[in-house]
Amino acid sequence: MSDSVEFENAVTEINEGVVQEVHSIEDIDTASDFELKHTPKIDLEELASGQRIKVTIGLKGITHPQTEEHFIEWIRLFVGPEPIGERVFGPADEPVAVFEIERSSEQVIAQALCNLHGLWEARV
Ligand SMILES: [Fe+2]
Repeated sequence: MSDSVEFENAVTEINEGVVQEVHSIEDIDTASDFELKHTPKIDLEELASGQRIKVTIGLKGITHPQTEEHFIEWIRLFVGPEPIGERVFGPADEPVAVFEIERSSEQVIAQALCNLHGLWEARV
């Protein structure tokens, strides 16, 4: 599956030092606007066949810019340790990713990369 191939290449790039640290928030009530606007928001919808997972960027209505200078480059999804897929964005794209997966009791992890502010993660 082509999603998986791109995904592995990008992970290697990250492991070589392009992005070192994964940011996440501990408590949404005390998070700063800077943290809120970078954090992936994971919405799960139950389907007869599994789950639809929609990932957007930003919590509490605080959205991230998407401009030439500052934008979300990609969103990735993991279910447990398993990479599910990746969506890549340019400055003109809305950073929204929708994935359909089989039913699973594993943790869902979404990661997003900001071109200026690094890698951000959320788990449900
Ligand atoms: Fe940013």
